[in-house]
Amino acid sequence: MKVLFVSSEVYPFAKTGGLGDVAYALPKMLRSLGVDARIILPKYEKISEDYKSKLIHIASFGVQVGWRNQYCGLEYLNYYDIPVYFIDNEYYFKRGDFYGYFDDGERFAYFDRAVLESIKYMSDFVPDVIHCNDWQTGMLPLLLKAHYFNRYWNVKTVYTIHNLKYQGVFSPTILGELLNLDMSYYDEHKCKYHDGVSFMKTAINYSDVVTTVSPSYAKEIQMPYYGEGLNGLLSEKQYKLHGILNGIDYDVFNPATDECIAEKYDAKNYKLKVNNKLALQAEFGMPVDINTPMIAIVSRLVKQKGLDLVTCVLDELLKMDIQLVILGSGDIEYTDFFEYFAKSYPSKIHVYWGYNDALARKIYAAADMFLMPSQFEPCGIGQLISMRYGTLPIVRETGGLKDTVQPYNEYTGEGVGFSFANYNAHEMLGIIKMAVDTYKNKKVWYNLVRRAMTTDFSWKSSAEKYIDIYKSIV
Ligand code: GLC
Repeated sequence: MKVLFVSSEVYPFAKTGGLGDVAYALPKMLRSLGVDARIILPKYEKISEDYKSKLIHIASFGVQVGWRNQYCGLEYLNYYDIPVYFIDNEYYFKRGDFYGYFDDGERFAYFDRAVLESIKYMSDFVPDVIHCNDWQTGMLPLLLKAHYFNRYWNVKTVYTIHNLKYQGVFSPTILGELLNLDMSYYDEHKCKYHDGVSFMKTAINYSDVVTTVSPSYAKEIQMPYYGEGLNGLLSEKQYKLHGILNGIDYDVFNPATDECIAEKYDAKNYKLKVNNKLALQAEFGMPVDINTPMIAIVSRLVKQKGLDLVTCVLDELLKMDIQLVILGSGDIEYTDFFEYFAKSYPSKIHVYWGYNDALARKIYAAADMFLMPSQFEPCGIGQLISMRYGTLPIVRETGGLKDTVQPYNEYTGEGVGFSFANYNAHEMLGIIKMAVDTYKNKKVWYNLVRRAMTTDFSWKSSAEKYIDIYKSIV
């Protein structure tokens, strides 16, 4: 089985969120299960020189973008036995950031076509399946059928939705001007979405299988509240829609081997974990105290992540005997708000703005609880990492959070975390109080910690489900 994994983000080269982690860890696991999985992404300016200097140039060729013929260089890196290809075009990708440009539609229309042109330069490799991810790769399944049918008639496509909210909707003129497709594709059953062309919708229509990253999210997106305007289409296509949970890479996230944290530990000597809390309290200049429960938020600071619930009850939360640490980057309305409280109550709340992998790991290891009250969550990775580090998640029951965090049951003792159902700040606060009370009962708490640490959230079983899907279409 040969699979080409196409993504606009791949860890450790380019990452803004969970997609980057998945695009590395899933192909890696597929390879260990015998699949010839390879990865392809744009060669962005921001990729570290350490990698860029090692790329091997394979071929140069032209890619048709409407009436123009654009340069494409195909470059290659063997990254720990994973073949990774890079699409080089400085006009499109030599920019300060990955996304957020007026011509993002053109940049990724080009990328999708360049990937298809690249295949003939990959040695001994014609994919059985091209696995596309999120809107940036959404035109590829249609381009394959429309322009490459003679060459690759038996190549199948899988499309994974990591977040339905970002759909890639552009002016209908891109069909002719960039994609060499005629206006017959500007049709409700093809690419048309309101007055534009949607990459996301096109992918849902033209790929052989559509997946998303948790079973609950697969159901939710067929309903108006979560469907982002595509719920009708998604329920029509439910025969080819599957929800498969993401995992985390157990080599990358392991408190027993993590070099970034103050004290290593595992499920057997989990009591050592507390030394990480003491170290972080000292590093952050907060009162050093074993018994104060530390709650962490490590997140993109956007509405999706439920931060409105936290801002709504923050003063009540800070009246409790807790410490709150926040790491993330995102909307200024949130950073400003938390910054104000961090200045007013430095002993209770500490913030760090930006993405910092080493500090994030210290926080996962140090905290007692991990707060993730998302409004919606396709899968979520933070709660999985936190459980691996014995930090009990407090989540809202939505999408992948609902599928991965079994809530504590006071009567049976079962569970790996805490959860609440409604998007309501006081409901969340009530559950945080319950977690803080439970924390005082060390026997119960340690049972939950051990169970969280030993529940299997690795990629293996999910990668096997993807293999079944590939097999079902080739
Ligand atoms: C997106 C989703 C997140 C998911 C990740 C990887 O970032 O918001 O829930 O875990 O993609 O699939």
